[in-house]
This record gives sequence, C-alpha cells and structure tokens, in this order.
Amino acid sequence: MIKLLLFTSLLLFFNACDEKEPAKNLDGKILTEQKCASCHNLNMPPVISDDELAPPMMAVAFHMPDFMKPKDESQRIPMAIEFVVDYVRNPALEKSKCDKESIKRYGVMPSQKEKVSQDELQAIATYMFNHYTQENLSKIQKDIAAFNALTPGEKLALKHKCLGCHKVNKKIVGPSFVDIAKKYKGSKNKIIQAIKNGSKNSWKSSNGAVMPPFKQINEEELEVLSDWILKSNS
Ligand code: HEC
Ligand code: HEC
Repeated sequence: MIKLLLFTSLLLFFNACDEKEPAKNLDGKILTEQKCASCHNLNMPPVISDDELAPPMMAVAFHMPDFMKPKDESQRIPMAIEFVVDYVRNPALEKSKCDKESIKRYGVMPSQKEKVSQDELQAIATYMFNHYTQENLSKIQKDIAAFNALTPGEKLALKHKCLGCHKVNKKIVGPSFVDIAKKYKGSKNKIIQAIKNGSKNSWKSSNGAVMPPFKQINEEELEVLSDWILKSNS
C-alpha cells in the first residue's frame, strides 16, 4: 500500500516543484486543512492511526509523482497536479493509484465535487507538492532530533519561552542562567519563587527590564527548571 512504498520513494525524490504563487483567496495550505484534513492526516511526518479514513497526505503526495509517466521529466509535477485536480472531483477505482490492499481498507475516495472547486484544487495540489518534499521532511526530522536530544531542563526552557530573554552564558534581556546560578547557589526556592512571581529591580544589569510571572508552570516543572538553572554554573 502507499505507506509501505513511501520509504522507497523518499530516496528517489525530486525537486521540480512549481512555485507559482496562488491567488490570495486560494491559499493551498488553508484549503487543504479545510477540505482534506477530515480524512487525510496532514502532519509531516504523519500521525498514523488504526482507524484512519484515508492514507496520510504525505504518503499520497510523496508517492503520486512516481506514478506519472511524463515524456519530459519537467512535466512530472504538473501532471501529478492535474491528476489530483481530476481525481478528487471524479474518483474511480480504475483511476486510483492506490494498491488493492489500501482500496480494500479505505474504499475508494468519495467524490468531493460538491465541496471543492477546480481552482481550489489547483491551489491544494500545488501546495501538496511544494510542502510534502523530502527536503522539508529532512528539516523537520532534524528539528525533532535536536529537540529530543535536549535535557529536560532545556526542553522546559524552550517550551515556556524563557530563551527569548535568557541565554545560559550571556546576558540578553535578563541575566544569564550562569549568573543567576551564581547568585542563588544553594537557594533553589528563591529561583522557583522568581519564576512563579516574576522579578523586577533585582538585577542592575537588566536596566529596569521586568520578568513576567509564570503562574502556569507546575511544581514538577519548576523543580526541573530550577535544578537545570543551578546546574548551568557547574
Ligand atoms: C471523505 C474522506 C476523504 C476526503 C474528505 C478526502 N479524501 Fe482523498 N482519499 C480518501 C480515501 C479513502 C483515499 C484512498 C482511496 C483512493 O485512492 O481512492 C483517498 C485518496 C486520495 C488520493 C490518492 C488517489 C490515488 O489514486 O491513489 C489523493 C490524491 C487524494 N485522496 C487527495 C485528496 C485531497 C486533495 C483532498 C481534499 C480536497 C481529499 N483527498 C479529501 C478519502 C478522502
Ligand atoms: C520577557 C523576558 C523574560 C522571560 C520570557 C523570562 N525572563 Fe527571567 N528574567 C527576565 C528579566 C528582565 C530578569 C531580571 C529582572 C530583575 O531585574 O529583577 C529575569 C530574571 C530571572 C531570574 C532571577 C530572578 C531574581 O529575582 O533574581 C530567574 C530565576 C529567571 N529570570 C528565570 C526565568 C525562567 C525559568 C524563565 C522561563 C520560564 C524566564 N526567566 C523567562 C526576563 C525574562
């Protein structure tokens, strides 16, 4: 089925994307979310579930160009776009590129003729082949790997946007975490209270900049964050 073939097609991917700007009222991304997300999972990499109604959109988009038989390689994506525009409005078993097992599992896609116009589909299909690319997938996977490699403290500092105002080694808006660790060595509770309640005028170096209170951070996260800040000085 499409998913199984996905990983072979990842290796063979292309970058002949058509970068035509869609008209303003035809935003392919928004339209895809509105018109296709009820059946196709749009995440990249996809979230796969046992009761999904259709193959994930990434699998469809990665795979579709491989089925086109252009005379000229530059026509591969335009042909795939054309296929999508037609198929979504007039789907049929004999047109489907899905293998038998997927068709058995999902059934043939119900026609979306009443729900999406040809112009809208043009924008959707163009977006699909611009967005679901090996290049974008690699970028996202790199970001995910980088995030997973962070310590729990670093993850929380990112999650709660501490890093917009603090760096570990360098003062920016607020003092560096190393300087904070030096000042509050051995008094973790001071750090926890400062995060909860915010802070002002404790640091001359901040020139009157204020730290807002972070009431929404729970006790467990406060422990992890303050331990991490204290450890930045070791
Ligand atoms: C009601 C559920 C549903 C909606 C909504 C839906 N699809 Fe599908 N789609 C399916 C199913 C089921 C399949 C797999 C069977 C098939 O290929 O017909 C599929 C398959 C496809 C295929 C692959 C066809 C092939 O030959 O392999 C494309 C392309 C596609 N959908 C595009 C879209 C786009 C674009 C949208 C939004 C405009 C959309 N679909 C909305 C259910 C849906
Ligand atoms: C909008 C900018 C901003 C954000 C976001 C921010 N801080 Fe601060 N932070 C500051 C400033 C400015 C100071 C110094 C304020 C002062 O002079 O008392 C500070 C001070 C601190 C202090 C020392 C407080 C004191 O009283 O000495 C700690 C601890 C701290 N921040 C931790 C954090 C953590 C953890 C986060 C994320 C949950 C965070 N900050 C998010 C701006 C910010």
